[in-house]
Amino acid sequence: MDENSLLANKIEESLDTEIIGKKIYYYSQVNSTNKIASELAKYGANEGTVVIAEKQSGGRGRRGRTWHSSDEGLWFSIIIRPEIKINESHFLTINASLAIYYALKGLGIESEIKWPNDILYKDKKICGILSEMNSSSQKLNYIVTGIGINVNQEKFPNQIKEKAISLYNILGNKVDQIELLKDILFYFENFYFRFLSGEKEKLLDEWKNKISLLGKEVTVKSDGKKYQGKAVDIAKDGRLVLLTDKSEKIKFWAGDTSVRK
Ligand code: BTN
Repeated sequence: MDENSLLANKIEESLDTEIIGKKIYYYSQVNSTNKIASELAKYGANEGTVVIAEKQSGGRGRRGRTWHSSDEGLWFSIIIRPEIKINESHFLTINASLAIYYALKGLGIESEIKWPNDILYKDKKICGILSEMNSSSQKLNYIVTGIGINVNQEKFPNQIKEKAISLYNILGNKVDQIELLKDILFYFENFYFRFLSGEKEKLLDEWKNKISLLGKEVTVKSDGKKYQGKAVDIAKDGRLVLLTDKSEKIKFWAGDTSVRK
């Protein structure tokens, strides 16, 4: 057995979960863990399968962007096969952001969730989440939730250094990536089971309390347009409610948001 398979087995065995991470694929380098996980899911991989890579050559970000994935970060994807409606699929991202929030809290870091799915520390990005769904007609086949966390990077390339921050930058010491992964998978499963057992409103409230945008004057870029106003609420379906400067209420499923200075 090669080194990566041994490591994968070691993680599988040490997890305190029932389904999440019971099968792990560990790679030194891949194009994108989301891509590999989607292929595995297409060929029937079980719910809870996790794909991890030390480096990604083509890390994918939201809205077609690339995700910088050097070898000091934690890059992984989880395959989920929930029997839910397609319009509830955003809950997987909500579960993931709550799981990361609590895992970071365990390290002594008080982070903020930036709607819809970034984890920030002092306005800089620690983590991004990209959930990709596969469905046929109205049936959801699977969701791949990809998580990228800046863990032990000392520095970032020029183009992202103003916006990105690592756990090392915050704490001043290196973090054990595998222990962090195990904590996140544990919390993720916990939130996922709560979601499946019908605790949607509670989860949404818990998530909403940690959203940094609420009550602030913001700009939302969505579908090629720019909207300005106050972020007043998160609707029950997870959409951001903006009260525009023209006193209109608009709800957004997704978008790029920034606080107006
Ligand atoms: C974003 O904020 O734009 C989302 C970034 C998501 C990055 C992670 S890293 C692991 C997984 N594999 C990918 O290709 N992307 C996600």
